[in-house]
Amino acid sequence: MCGIVGYVGKQDAGPLVLEALKRLEYRGYDSAGIAVIQDGRLAVEKAAGKIAVLEQRLEGHLPRGCTALAHTRWATHGAPTDDNAHPHTDCGGTMALVHNGIIENAGTLRERLQQCGHRFRSETDTEVLAHLVEEAFTDSLELAVAAALRQVEGTYGIAVVSSREPHTIVAARHGSPLLVGLGDHEYFIASDAAAMLAHTRSVVYLDDGEIAVLSPEGYRVTDLETEPVEKSVSTVEWDLASVERGGFAHFMLKEIMEQAEALELTLRGRLLEDDGNARLGGLNLANEQLLEIDRVVLTACGTSWHAALIGEYLLEELARIPAEVEYASEFRYRNPILDHRTLVIGISQSGETADTLAAIREAKRRGAHTLGIVNVVGSTIAREVGGGIYIHAGPEIGVASTKAFTCQVAALALLTLRLGRLRALSVLQGREIVRALRKLPGQMSQVLARAAAVERIGEQFARAPNALYLGRGYNFPVALEGALKLKEISYIHAEGYPAAEIKHGPIALIDEMMPVVFIAPRDAVYQKILSNVQEVKARRGRVIAIVTEGDAEITGLADHSFPIPETIDPLTPLLSVIPLQLLAYYIAVRRGCDVDKPRNLAKSVTVE
Ligand code: AGP
Repeated sequence: MCGIVGYVGKQDAGPLVLEALKRLEYRGYDSAGIAVIQDGRLAVEKAAGKIAVLEQRLEGHLPRGCTALAHTRWATHGAPTDDNAHPHTDCGGTMALVHNGIIENAGTLRERLQQCGHRFRSETDTEVLAHLVEEAFTDSLELAVAAALRQVEGTYGIAVVSSREPHTIVAARHGSPLLVGLGDHEYFIASDAAAMLAHTRSVVYLDDGEIAVLSPEGYRVTDLETEPVEKSVSTVEWDLASVERGGFAHFMLKEIMEQAEALELTLRGRLLEDDGNARLGGLNLANEQLLEIDRVVLTACGTSWHAALIGEYLLEELARIPAEVEYASEFRYRNPILDHRTLVIGISQSGETADTLAAIREAKRRGAHTLGIVNVVGSTIAREVGGGIYIHAGPEIGVASTKAFTCQVAALALLTLRLGRLRALSVLQGREIVRALRKLPGQMSQVLARAAAVERIGEQFARAPNALYLGRGYNFPVALEGALKLKEISYIHAEGYPAAEIKHGPIALIDEMMPVVFIAPRDAVYQKILSNVQEVKARRGRVIAIVTEGDAEITGLADHSFPIPETIDPLTPLLSVIPLQLLAYYIAVRRGCDVDKPRNLAKSVTVE
């Protein structure tokens, strides 16, 4: 998710859009840029790194003019470099464009444009849009943008300026948020209200398929056929701090709530239903090499390590490849047995975790193939592995990882499809997995819509001194993840166990003070976990159960239960983890903890 801001009016636009852009830096922060129409000419400056790097670059010579765009990037195509930063310009250097989203047919369009003589300077999908607009631009920027967008597949929020129409901004939205800010003979465009609250609270939210044309004389909104569209004016009530969090009290809650959207982005363009397979363009391993692999080692830390555990179960059960999981901090100092038939997969949201990076480097030294499952494009791990899968979850600001976890598991499911369909996974089995994945974002939304029920359960346990999380099979790692979420943001000591394991010691802890969370969907081991629930209830334990909708047996035994929609066993973690994320969140809030920045923790552990 990138940050976009534009201004047209009577003020000096450069400093104004730069200041506004800082309000959006949480949306993406790997590079930034600005375009200003100065004395009828286009001036563009952009730099890899945070906005502060761009400001240093501009020191003392920020272009002056009354029309400007600025952008802070969350890379999806192409590493964070000066050339890949937005704005992107046309060949003639008269037009600049900023974009948030993913252009799915960028490759085809780029080839055609290059054959027509267009010269590209970046690896991004966005630059294709700039050349498409240039190609269509005769005497109207608005008509050129509309013509260009009619050729595009994918998602966009864009804003465009041109020295040929120095007092105009053309903006358009399809799948990525954009809103117009209304001032007195001055107008704003931005990806969220945080960018303009210092200037106006009167806004017009664009909807998909709409184009806005702004000038000091006014604004108008049309559809892609440039037919006028009537829009209502809204007033932003939020304060600045809450707007940056999209109106949520904490980034963690925002990121929990946007998991369905994030999962859509992880899966976008990658599901091949007919073939029961996944399209993964970044593995950089041919089928012959993938078939040579006789063992997979998944290595990570923390929440990513829990995702790796689910990956182990997926790969062994469905792709029939021996798989094992290693704590990166252990792996790097053991003397692991690896060779060219071993695939080592590093899983990391930040792509900067020191132990995981070191494990990848050790694997490469020993001749193993390496892949990364990473969120931050162009991060160190992403650049050092042989290939990988970006999860496209958008920036994860809250220290406690939530949407990255579910997107990592989804990426592992895609990789399992890819490897499994080269081996024993049938097309029918593959199609079943693809169909179940396609349904998941909607099912996630159903679970998220019932967050208030989890909040009510959380109120009962905010004072608990300890907690146990129990699961089996694919949901044993979910038990570990639920326990980690609770302890890292509420500071309540919690442990996760395979449910059957409690008989070997932990059951001694059970009493009426001990909340026991069971992840107990109706899966292959349901009857077994039912017995475990009975064992805990027989010892007066307080049971919270995550169950499948319609469940009666465990629901009848539990003190509190929370239903999740039915899906295939291997994908239940993507739904069963959500109430556990919310439970930890609501308990931590009730305990007055700093949810987004828990004590002693950092978002990315870049030291040993
Ligand atoms: C999880 O909530 C924690 N923030 C932490 O365990 C995290 O998952 C771990 O540090 C790994 O980070 P990474 O995914 O960025 O490598």
